[in-house]
Amino acid sequence: MQSLQGMNTIEGENLDRWVKQCRPLGTKGRCAEYIPALGESNLLDLGICIITPEGVEIKSGEWDVPFTLQSISKVISFIAACLDRGISFVLERVDVEPTGDAFNSIVRLEMNKPGRPFNPMINAGAITITSLLNGESPEQKLHSVYELLEKMIGRRPTFNERVFQSEWKTANRNRALAYYLKESGFLESEVEDALEVYLKQCSIEVNAKDIARMGLILSQNGFDPIQKKQVFPKEVAKLIKGLMMTCGMYNASGKFAAFVGVPAKSGVSGGIMASVPARYEQETLFQMGCGIGIYGPAIDEFGNSIAGVELLKNLAGEWDFSIF
Ligand code: DON
Repeated sequence: MQSLQGMNTIEGENLDRWVKQCRPLGTKGRCAEYIPALGESNLLDLGICIITPEGVEIKSGEWDVPFTLQSISKVISFIAACLDRGISFVLERVDVEPTGDAFNSIVRLEMNKPGRPFNPMINAGAITITSLLNGESPEQKLHSVYELLEKMIGRRPTFNERVFQSEWKTANRNRALAYYLKESGFLESEVEDALEVYLKQCSIEVNAKDIARMGLILSQNGFDPIQKKQVFPKEVAKLIKGLMMTCGMYNASGKFAAFVGVPAKSGVSGGIMASVPARYEQETLFQMGCGIGIYGPAIDEFGNSIAGVELLKNLAGEWDFSIF
């Protein structure tokens, strides 16, 4: 196995090459224009950061460009809700089954009585989860999300008011989902309050390094090897990684499992947070696992970064990441 010191430069050069190769794919995707403020992103941006448990950071491209968490926030609010209310309370209200449908689909809420959302990675599930967070007001509920994020990335992330306002005004589909959930008894807060928490958590701003750190903590089952502390219990980490594997890339989760093979979560702003677990084979690079953060704002029809997914496929092939 290469030494970590050597890896930093050799693998950094490989990473630059793959970023260069995948970047043009951005022209084949689109920005998430249904959130008007996201329509202004640069389609050709592509950045990546990999962090190992030893604290080695390998970065390339636009890894430091800020972007909003969007659906990656669903991982954080799910963990926060489990910490606030306990796993069984949460799972009574949101299931853990993939849908094979689009992330904002409403169809299964009516088709499967009593309408429990299929999983917390789709919008219906995530809106329900935000209503379960501790506290009465949206501010109090958001506190749980910020507190956990701060523990994971070591600083309080900024909030993009413009992206929030832009989505708040156009969130008709999410409003429809929230009204439906309220009517079927799954939403524990008022519709507008749940939407405010959900859309505000989506508008929290990070960069690829931040989400790589989050992916690293997940890969170490809730233990942060950099701050040397357990941030959340192993049981919660295993549960959310199972959800990321089966539902994290929406209705492309099967393809992602087959061709990349690690738990990951995407967002429509172009972020992908991936978590590579420790492996037992000898001679394996990143044997102790790593976190990967990617930013590439051009998304495909499933809502996943088009160049980001290709980049991960390359890395998984070259560095043998897949857990299978
Ligand atoms: O609710 C929405 O539609 C967005 N705020 C988040 C969706 C999202 O990121 C789906 N991801 N690929």
